[in-house]
Amino acid sequence: MKYSSLVFILIVFCNQITVAQSTSVSVIPEPVSIKIEKGKFIIDAKTVISVKPNSLPEVKELATTLSLWLANSTGLNLKMKPKTSGSDKSIRLEINSSLKDLKGDEGYKLRVTSTEITLQALKPSGIFYGLQTINQLLSVESVKGKPTQWSIPAVQITDYPRLGWRGLMLDVSRHFFSKEFIKSYIDQMARYKFNVFHWHLTDDQGWRIEIKAFPKLTEVGAWRVPRIGQWWSYEQPQQGEAATYGGFYTQDDIREIVAYARQRTISILPEIDVPGHSLAAIAAYPYLSATGEIYQVNPGSKFYEIQDNTLNPADERVYDFLDKVLGEVAALFPNEYIHIGGDECTKVFWHKSAPVQAFMVQNGLKTEDELQSYFIKRVEKILQKKGKRLIGWDEILEGGLAPDATVMSWRGMQGGIKAAQEGHQVIMTPADNTYLDLYQGDPALEPDTYSMLRLKTAYQWDPLPPNIKQELVLGGQGNLWTESVSTNRHAEYMTWPRSMALAEVFWSPKAKQNWSNFQRKLASGFKHLDAERINYSKAAFDVVVSTSLNDKNELIASLSTDLDDLIIYYTLDNTNPDSFSNKYTGEPIQIPAGIYQLRAVAYQKNNPIGKTLIINRKDLEKRAEK
Ligand code: ACM
Repeated sequence: MKYSSLVFILIVFCNQITVAQSTSVSVIPEPVSIKIEKGKFIIDAKTVISVKPNSLPEVKELATTLSLWLANSTGLNLKMKPKTSGSDKSIRLEINSSLKDLKGDEGYKLRVTSTEITLQALKPSGIFYGLQTINQLLSVESVKGKPTQWSIPAVQITDYPRLGWRGLMLDVSRHFFSKEFIKSYIDQMARYKFNVFHWHLTDDQGWRIEIKAFPKLTEVGAWRVPRIGQWWSYEQPQQGEAATYGGFYTQDDIREIVAYARQRTISILPEIDVPGHSLAAIAAYPYLSATGEIYQVNPGSKFYEIQDNTLNPADERVYDFLDKVLGEVAALFPNEYIHIGGDECTKVFWHKSAPVQAFMVQNGLKTEDELQSYFIKRVEKILQKKGKRLIGWDEILEGGLAPDATVMSWRGMQGGIKAAQEGHQVIMTPADNTYLDLYQGDPALEPDTYSMLRLKTAYQWDPLPPNIKQELVLGGQGNLWTESVSTNRHAEYMTWPRSMALAEVFWSPKAKQNWSNFQRKLASGFKHLDAERINYSKAAFDVVVSTSLNDKNELIASLSTDLDDLIIYYTLDNTNPDSFSNKYTGEPIQIPAGIYQLRAVAYQKNNPIGKTLIINRKDLEKRAEK
């Protein structure tokens, strides 16, 4: 069954208890226009699903999907009818080529009255997104937990995306994630109308894609020694220690996942990260580096500029390797683009290598940046031969961009702006707004990582900077690097709800993005995730502390939460705070000498919510030093 996971999502969703509100509905991302009308469409035994007999097969398939999930959730086996009669209450799915105001293939119009639901679009992808919206609108009324009525509020929605590229990236190199989890992640993305899954398939800690021409890439490169603890503090592989931790996707797995994603209107962007971040490939084939040293795949211990993880741009065998690897990748992924990485390439080994330096002289390359640019341009030519276009991280600007390269801007938006000024396409994914591996709440309460990206920061940015040709910005993307993320549950926790915020940034018109409204919708969004048993972070309800020293060298603490409707209570006497404790007014507090600990918690509508933050003076002082 092709849409089985969507069906599953919809089944579990329908098991939750929500009651339709007549004044507001909660759809994430916010539609372009939504008009709430009186009444609701009640789904009952008389409801029929209707598609015209000459509809596209994809639309018929989507109708089947709808009938299956409604059967599973409501127990009603709704009839599928090509034509409806006056007495039928119908849910109609139809392609309508006259809907010019939908501005493209992904838009849809949804009209719900008490007798009819009409979902129209120019293309099946629009119907698919309309179904996601219906999914979020469906409500069940119940008595003592027993469903009594399934309904959808009467609305008129016109909807289409702001940006064409709405991506999420998952790093499967630092930790391997199973095929089943990748499918689940794709389902989760589809629900929020993401349409690109960027699959970071290779890095220093693992090569994850079967390449028939180079079997050692996965026989050797997909496995490393097992380690637990704090990333970068992992012990180096020991002499003779077995590399037992890892995994990879066979080419059959890849084809299965590509087809699965396609049915959910998601295209997959594969990334083969070169010329840096290549230690796993070099562990398999040491001739690929200029030093030719023999290494093991890195488990997450310090190795940068100590071990040579860069491909040798002066060796023709490297281009032959890439030609074969990218040939197989190109044949597996229908996407017009392949991402070739290009980031964080350390050049110290190129600098020290006599053959590499001689190659630079022969080719008139004055700096290692120019050598990197030479390499990327050669890779672009290889891709072009295979009918593909190149995307790289913004380091590919260094030494000059390849002629047709698209830049993924991660070190802020500056690289993207520069590339667009040079006429190149860009995808905005600035770390400060889109990196899902960062802390989303106070480090004292969150799993260990680095830097900070709070929910509000993910919500409040604009991937379309002024003063560049807006059409060159294909869109935006959230990126989940997994150095510190080893389990499915943790990957979900880091993804949601920040990616709900990103979904709205990428899909909804700027004028419809509204932080207050988004906060209101979170409650319903969390219920959906609960029903689907998908993990997410509630850090937005927790208190975050930042500190500084004033001009008298006194310790000053500022407290905040992401959500606006919370009140913070705190103590300085090592007791757990409640609503009788000090109320934080927004004025930073001075922590008197001798105070050992700050504790704080947030309240919402007179109820404690979120975790109690407990932080010692020593740590507060450390933060003030930073
Ligand atoms: C990156 O974060 N190195 C693209």
